[in-house]
Amino acid sequence: MSGRTPDHIARLVPRLGLTGTERILELGAAPGAAVAEIGRLLTGDGHVTALDRSAVGVRRIRERNRDLVDAGRLTVVEQDLTTLEADGPPRFDVIFASNVNVFWTHPARADVGTLAALLVPGGRLHLFYGYGDGDSPGPDSGRDIGGLVAATLERSGALVAVTVDGAGAPLEIRATKGRD
Ligand SMILES: C[S@@+](CC[C@H](N)C(=O)[O-])C[C@H]1O[C@@H](n2cnc3c(N)ncnc32)[C@H](O)[C@@H]1O
Repeated sequence: MSGRTPDHIARLVPRLGLTGTERILELGAAPGAAVAEIGRLLTGDGHVTALDRSAVGVRRIRERNRDLVDAGRLTVVEQDLTTLEADGPPRFDVIFASNVNVFWTHPARADVGTLAALLVPGGRLHLFYGYGDGDSPGPDSGRDIGGLVAATLERSGALVAVTVDGAGAPLEIRATKGRD
C-alpha cells in the first residue's frame, strides 16, 4: 500500500541529513509516511525501526511499508516511548519524531536519558512540530513549543548542542549525543 506523502514529512526528511547507511529510530511513526520516504534512501546497512504506541498505527506502518519489512530494512514496534528501555549497546545513529507532544506536554515522562543511551556517540535526536507553512508554533503562538522541548532536552543533561530551528516549517529541535 502507498499513500501521498504529507508536506511536513516531505520537508522534514531532508533535514535529517541522511546518507542512507544510518540505523534510525522513529518515535510515533504511524502511519508510516516518513518511513516510506526514508526507505527509498536506505543503502548498505541502513535500517529503520518504527515505534508507535497505537496498535492500529503499527498495522498501518506495516501495511504501507510491506516492501521494507520484506527486505529486512524495517522493524515495527508497538510500544509507548515513555517506557522504552536501553538494553544492550547504543545502536541508533539518528532518532527522530514528528508531532509527538510528550516532550513538551509531559516533560517528566519523556525519558530523554534512555533515548540518549540508545544513540551512538555523535548520534542525533531531531524532534519536529507542525504540519505546514505558518503552522510552526513559535513564541508568538502562546505556546513556545521550541523553548519547552529544548528545556526538556537540556534538563536531562544527556545530550549536548540543543538547538531550535523555527525558521521554516516544521519547527525542529535538535540535539546530539556527546562523544565524551
Ligand atoms: C499526531 S500523530 C503524528 C504522526 C506522524 N508522526 C506525523 O507527524 O504525521 C502522533 C503519533 O505519535 C504516537 N504517539 C504519541 N505519543 C506516543 C508515545 N508516548 N509513545 C509512542 N507513540 C506515541 C501516536 O500514536 C501517533 O501515531
